[in-house]
Amino acid sequence: MNKGFLWGVATSAFQLEGSPHADWASWDTILTERPNVTSHYTLYKEDLNLLKDLGVNSYRFSVEWSRIQPRENVWDDASLAHYQEIVDILLQNNIEPMVTIHHFTHPLWFIKKYPWHEDSSIEKFMRFAEKVVATLKGVRYWITFNEPYVLLLGGYLEGCMPPGIRDSSLAVRALQNILVCHGKAYDMIHAHAANYGITPMVSVAHNMAALAPWKRYSPLDRLLAKIVKYFYNHSLLDAFLTGYLRVKFPFKNEIRIQVPIQNKLDFFGVNYYTRVHIRFNPFKKMCLELRHMDIDGYGLTDMGWEVHPRGLEKVLRYASKLKVPLIITENGIATHDGQTKIKYMSRHVEAVEKSIRDGIDVRGYFYWTLIDNYEWLQGLDARFGLYRVDFDTMERKPTNAAAYYAYIIKSRS
Ligand code: FCB
Repeated sequence: MNKGFLWGVATSAFQLEGSPHADWASWDTILTERPNVTSHYTLYKEDLNLLKDLGVNSYRFSVEWSRIQPRENVWDDASLAHYQEIVDILLQNNIEPMVTIHHFTHPLWFIKKYPWHEDSSIEKFMRFAEKVVATLKGVRYWITFNEPYVLLLGGYLEGCMPPGIRDSSLAVRALQNILVCHGKAYDMIHAHAANYGITPMVSVAHNMAALAPWKRYSPLDRLLAKIVKYFYNHSLLDAFLTGYLRVKFPFKNEIRIQVPIQNKLDFFGVNYYTRVHIRFNPFKKMCLELRHMDIDGYGLTDMGWEVHPRGLEKVLRYASKLKVPLIITENGIATHDGQTKIKYMSRHVEAVEKSIRDGIDVRGYFYWTLIDNYEWLQGLDARFGLYRVDFDTMERKPTNAAAYYAYIIKSRS
């Protein structure tokens, strides 16, 4: 790996801190019992020290919108100062900050009055984004949106995430508005950076999965897998290349919309976890059934996800058509077992190294995640952390994978 390679860990604010004014706070009863989740908002210095133990040279984290803007016209200066302090601590320790502006959560006032399918959402989001960018000094790497498609699937198609809508035409409108915001935020970040003499690196973090037909000889499974693969993995890349988004849901007409994001990328963030098999099933919504199968013999994670490192090579190869540097902005495993975590990590790091040898321009790898946290649909039992958290005492303890990651970084730097 070359010298400037970013070895990091990735986190998100709400999953560590909770927030009383966020849409998710009242969405999940676990959060009413444990509103502060890991108490990271107060224990952040202790947690940032763990980064030094790991020897990472970069750290991806997000700012929590509902802390910064708890009410529509109220800015909370203390929380802005808090996030600046995190940036300062990182910079003092030669750790490159990568800030995610939007990682799934919203202030309640926003999602109630200006949900993403309303055009008024654009101005409201941009006011927040500009406040963050104007305030946080010294940040070069920005992620505007984490996994816009997951937000869409969860919030607008499945209805399992706020705002809990199930409507494909509203979903398309919401996606369009989110992408408009990405384009505007890209320009805004570049304009601000010019004032500070920083060359910014701006992207989204796109969740990409390996996708395959359930039965290879079934024409319907294959057709569906192709449609899903195009929508889920590829349509966003094409939108960045052409400025047009083509959305095709199974058994519906294709929609083509203009999105002002052509070339508005300085690198591309890929979140990769697993492979999904796809089956035609007339009794399911959109005739689509998804399943994880342990085909390679590497096992399923505690989330039931298939461990499939070769899929990472595939999605990186595909993403390389964007012709910008790639960064793996998330990759990790939910497991209670340290050894299983080590195996997952080493196989995926090998896949990254292989991709680089094959000529793919990969510039960084961020392990998800630093300490155990709140997992959106699974609560507190999905153990993704390099450090294990005892949610009663809030004590953090390293898993075996922490030392292993430190070793990987040291041996490659
Ligand atoms: C990703 C999310 C992240 C985390 C991991 C496990 O899809 O971006 O917040 O929940 O999955």
